[in-house]
Parts: sequence; C-alpha cells; structure tokens
Amino acid sequence: MLEHIRADAGMTERYLVNFDTENLPYEFYDVVIIGSGIAGVYTALSSPRNAKILIITKEAIEMSNSVLAQGGIAVSLDQNDSPDLHFKDTLIAGAGLCDDSAVKVLVNEAAENIATLCLYGVNFDRDEGNMLALTREGAHSMNRIIHTGDATGKEVCDTLVRAVSLLKNVTIREQTFAIDILTENGECKGVLTSNEDGTELKAYYAPVVVCASGGYGQLYSRTTNPEVATGDGAALALRAGAELMDLEFVQFHPTVLCHPDNQNFLISEAVRGEGAVLRNNRGERFMDKYHPMKELAPRDVVSRAIFQEMQKTGSNHVFLDITHRDTVFLQHRFPTIYNKCLSYGIDMAKDFIPVAPCQHYSMGGIRTDEWGRTRILGFYAVGEAACNGIHGANRLASNSLLEGLVFGRRIGRQVQENLDEIKIREGFRPRISYNREWIGKDIDYISMKKKLQEIMTLNVGIIRSEDSLNEAMRIISGLKSEIEGVRIVHTHHMELKNMLTLASLVVKAAIMRQESRGAHFRTDYPATDDQNWLKNIVFKAGG
Ligand code: SIN
Repeated sequence: MLEHIRADAGMTERYLVNFDTENLPYEFYDVVIIGSGIAGVYTALSSPRNAKILIITKEAIEMSNSVLAQGGIAVSLDQNDSPDLHFKDTLIAGAGLCDDSAVKVLVNEAAENIATLCLYGVNFDRDEGNMLALTREGAHSMNRIIHTGDATGKEVCDTLVRAVSLLKNVTIREQTFAIDILTENGECKGVLTSNEDGTELKAYYAPVVVCASGGYGQLYSRTTNPEVATGDGAALALRAGAELMDLEFVQFHPTVLCHPDNQNFLISEAVRGEGAVLRNNRGERFMDKYHPMKELAPRDVVSRAIFQEMQKTGSNHVFLDITHRDTVFLQHRFPTIYNKCLSYGIDMAKDFIPVAPCQHYSMGGIRTDEWGRTRILGFYAVGEAACNGIHGANRLASNSLLEGLVFGRRIGRQVQENLDEIKIREGFRPRISYNREWIGKDIDYISMKKKLQEIMTLNVGIIRSEDSLNEAMRIISGLKSEIEGVRIVHTHHMELKNMLTLASLVVKAAIMRQESRGAHFRTDYPATDDQNWLKNIVFKAGG
C-alpha cells in the first residue's frame, strides 16, 4: 500500500448557494447519476431494473468526453496476450504510482465487460476471421486496442444511450446542473441541482449518488475535452467532505492538430499505432533519441520529446507522417481524422499533419476504493471524475473507457446487492439548508475563465518549475479572492468557482511534488525520486 500525504484543500464554503430543501421542488430516486458519459450510462445499465434511477447531465445526453474518444478500449484478447501483460504495461506507464490491486481489477474484468458491450450491439471493427480487430497504442507491449474506426467513443456511447433510453426505471434529465450533493451526518442524501441558467433549484433525494461527471480539461486553453469538462464533480465532492487525489498529474496528448483554425482536434494515438512517425519541422524523425519504443513510448515521454523538439526548432508544432499508407486505408481506418484534416487542406495520404501536445485527460480526481466508494456513505465516483489508482502518474492509452465500464459495473453490482437497504423511503425527506451572507457583485466570468486557462496552459503544462507554479498560484489566488463570498447567480459562475478550486489544488500538488514522475515534470527536480516520493497527495477540505 502506498503512503499518502494529506493536505488541507483550504475550503470554507460547504455549498455554493443558499437554499432550504423545505422550500424546493423535489423528487425521490434510489440512485442519482451525475454525468452521461460511458461511466454514468453503463452504471445505470449495470444496476438492477427495480432500482429507480435518475441520470442528470448539464448539457445534452450525447455530449460527453467519452463520445469524443477516438482510439478504443484496451483488453487482452490476443492469444499471446494476457491480463498480466496488460497489468504490467499499465504499471510501467503509471510510473510507480498505480494501485496494483485496482489495476488487477481493471485488467481481469476487462474482457467480460467487452462481451457485454458486444451483447448491447456495439459494432467494433472485426478482422478477416471475424474476431475483434486489435491495434496498438503507446506503451502497450501487444496489440490490444479494440475500436470502431476512429470514433470508438461515439459508437459505444450511442449504443449505450439507446439501451438506457429504453429502460423504464431510468429517467434522464438534460440541462440539469449538479450544484452540490446533499449530506447529513456524513451520509449522502441526494443532489441539489439547478436549471441551465441557475434560476431554479431542485432537490433530488437519493441514498446513492454516483459522480460520473468527467474531468477538468477546461482548466487549460488547449484541450481535447468539451466545454462541459469543468471539474464540477471533483469540486462538489470536496465541498461535501470527500478526498481528491493525484491532481498534479494532468495528461497531455502528444498529437493534437495544430492548425490556425483548430488547435483542439485529437489525432488518435492509433495513427502512430498504424505506423505514423513524428518529424520535427526540419523533416527529421526524432523519437529514437528519446525512448526505445520511439513513437509508441508512453504519452508523457512523447509529449515532452515533442515539446523539446518544438523549442529546439523554434516551432509551435511538429509533424505526424503517415504518408506511407494509401488513401483507401486511411479513409477506412480513420474516417473522422481523414475528413477533418482534409477540411483544413491536409491530405493525410500525401501531407504531414501539424501536431502539438495539448491537455487530454485528468489522472486525478475523487478518491475511491475498488468499488467506487468515497469516504461519504452513499457517494460513489467513477470514470475520469474518480481516482482509484489505476492510472498512477500517467494513464496508459485506452484504459479510460475501460475504467468507466469495469468500475461502473462494480457500482451497479453494489446497488443490486444492497437494494433492499438503500431503497428510498419516499415521503421521508431530511430538511437540509444553507444560509450565509453573500456579497452582490458582477463577475466577468468569460475574462476570468480565460485568464485562468492561459496561466494554467503557460505555467502548469508539460514542463513546470517552482517559479512557474508560484506565479500560477499568485494569479489563481487573485482570481479566487475576486469571487470569494460573491453571490452566485448563474451556473457559469458555479463552473468558474469549481475550476478555480481545482486549479489551485492542481498547482498546490504540483508545488508539493518536488520530483518528476509520469506526466508531472519539473525542471528544478528533473529526476524521479523513489525514496521520498512514491506516494499520493490527497486533499480534503479542512485537511
Ligand atoms: C487516442 O485515440 O489517442 C486517445 C485514446 C486515449 O486517450 O486513451
């Protein structure tokens, strides 16, 4: 078991807004799931059909980070592969910080969940023998990525959303913002929500709340994440008394389109899996100087190598070269990427694709055990919102959709096993209220968010140092104090508050971790320090 360092998150507010449940509209459910990505929807599908379930999502049901996932899902299916090899690769990528037993759960339960997806009708690509086609991505020692072209997330999410929409026991509410979870004596009692603009509050009572709200990519100006990824789940968990872990580990995907009109479009690692090579702006291939696995080295290594080449050659990008593959292959294997590139005048079969690293995934999140449980009774977290130790300091490619499946099903199983106990007693609603003085003041949400994203991108990116981090903390503290105690009147303000909470903790953890490991690289501590630093940083409100 790893040692943990506990730190005070410095929170003062328990809830973001004043309310009294006595005066709010309300509904009763057995389970409320926050988020409609693969983790949230699969948790609902894995729960018993006699549980009354609500899925809330702040946007439309089909808008999630999972939908954008291109590459695929890692699973050891090849006859020369095994969960053991998948386990080893995950640990190596995680740079010493993975939780071994959580990773074992992930790799051992992978195949049975993929079988379930096939039963739901997910249409994965097949090989000539009609077996699931396997490709490779960075830091995998075997071909073990199943996929649907380059739109795997969309195929899986579309199929699962269709299936969940048919269930009579599941209600879906879109444009519903989860402000905070309601707690009483350390137990989860439900969720406080608002409509899109924050004008109508509502209480959803439920003994089980599952946070599957995704990560916090929007802390950065360049991210592959959608607008909704503002870290609301982690921030509300912290306010309620849950712990956050590994926040300093932010994954930067090496190859994101770098075109004047689009700097956020992912060029899947699977393109390198199919043989693409990286070249600097002099046309020179460079990855062999940095790692024996070259273009398929772990993501953090490739991203830093690209960053160094960009600095060396004074360019804001390098190139991805897959011109050895012909148009027919590329159109078939990567239709989304092929067409997107073409829309910017880049023909992948003939032209090099300009790419640069950009924020892609948050390894840190709400600390859970192997069953998705947090330290609040009845409150669970799953998917990118959670941190159960499977990614360590650097997530292995295509382990994230898998995480949502494996741990979503584990939560569903617990609901199944404990349904008699947890069944909501409709009519019994605890009175929960919050009332503090707020200051009335206009908040320029857009410019504050932009300033936050810029400083995070510039100072808390692939390469960090004490100076860059202290400067980021200074700016973030200034932004936080501008809105401290200010009455919130719109969900955009709630998002900003959540983002500032998380940003300050990402920076605090990055300052505390005086070494380089996985996705966290410090120029002032360039070495990995296994003697003093093989430990997780855990934040909790009040320390
Ligand atoms: C990719 O397709 O490169 C992304 C896959 C992942 O993030 O695991």
